[in-house]
Amino acid sequence: MRERLLAAEKVKAIEWKDGQLHLLDQRKLPLEEIWHTYESAAAVATAIREMIVRGAPAIGISAAYGLVLGLKARLDEGGDWRAALEADFDVLANSRPTAVNLFWALNQMRERLERLKPGDDPLAAAEAQAASIHASDREANLTMAQFGVDLIRKHQGNPQNLLTHCNTGALATGGFGTALGVIRGAHLEGLVECVYADETRPWLQGSRLTAWELAGEGVPVTLNADSAAAHLMKTRGITWVIVGADRITANGDVANKIGTYQLAVLAMHHGVRFMVVAPSSTIDMDLETGDDIPIEERAGHELLEVNGQRFAADVEAFNPVFDVTPADLIDAIVTEKGVVERPNAAKLAALMSRKRLH
Ligand code: MRU
Repeated sequence: MRERLLAAEKVKAIEWKDGQLHLLDQRKLPLEEIWHTYESAAAVATAIREMIVRGAPAIGISAAYGLVLGLKARLDEGGDWRAALEADFDVLANSRPTAVNLFWALNQMRERLERLKPGDDPLAAAEAQAASIHASDREANLTMAQFGVDLIRKHQGNPQNLLTHCNTGALATGGFGTALGVIRGAHLEGLVECVYADETRPWLQGSRLTAWELAGEGVPVTLNADSAAAHLMKTRGITWVIVGADRITANGDVANKIGTYQLAVLAMHHGVRFMVVAPSSTIDMDLETGDDIPIEERAGHELLEVNGQRFAADVEAFNPVFDVTPADLIDAIVTEKGVVERPNAAKLAALMSRKRLH
């Protein structure tokens, strides 16, 4: 399946070339494909905050490259680059709060710079570290796709109707996707009748990004309003809800795009299995439960306006963009280190003690 997934690869959203970061503007898709070039850490932080790049692993990869850009500028300035670089760590860390991949990637960069030996070139080392974060995410996607497909097949070998939320594909990662990687793999293995994609209000990652990625590869996809999920589960024979994650805590609670929690509750009621697919860089063993996860709240105008045009009444809007699904609603967490069924603290600790495969 690895070769077939690689052969089907079409979309890329992050590119590092000649010391510059290039990002595909995800706010404009699918109507326009516009790339921007970045040369500073602060500009990359703004791109993350403004959702030009989004999705937990993609945010982490971009932040790592952003740090390389910051380091280059600090070295050019002369003086104490280590002290000066702290401002770049801060600006990147303050871009978005929920996806732990951002902080994980910045930590990887910090640790690499702390391991420099006399005579090492800091810029070359940082660039290699960022590239390795990028490449290992892609590898992790491939491994997770295989594990996820095995899990689907274990329960049922026929083509199935799957439901997904938000965008967890090539646009959100360094490779093929987490949940969408599993879905792509399942399609290649003849296990997909139809993928139902939640539109994912208010940023419409489902309508604009997931539907675009899947349709572009010939995966049968049908769009639905987020609020159609219960009806879909009742009437369309959905067998699995498959989603990604922005942060998974030590007990197996999962923060993901707002609306994921209600899907898990609905899935439990309808006897639909619930799979979370995320690399181990999304697992935060420092937080005990999902109650400790900072949940990003974005500006109300994202709910009140479409394309800058107000359509709602003159009221305040509450716009949390993630929610937390409790571990006991989850059938399986699929990572590149392995699969945890019916997650709990002991199983997550055992998983995380395994060596990272990539
Ligand atoms: O606000 P976004 O678009 O960054 O949110 C993305 C999600 O919630 C994804 O499901 C998650 O990051 C996993 S992406 C592989």
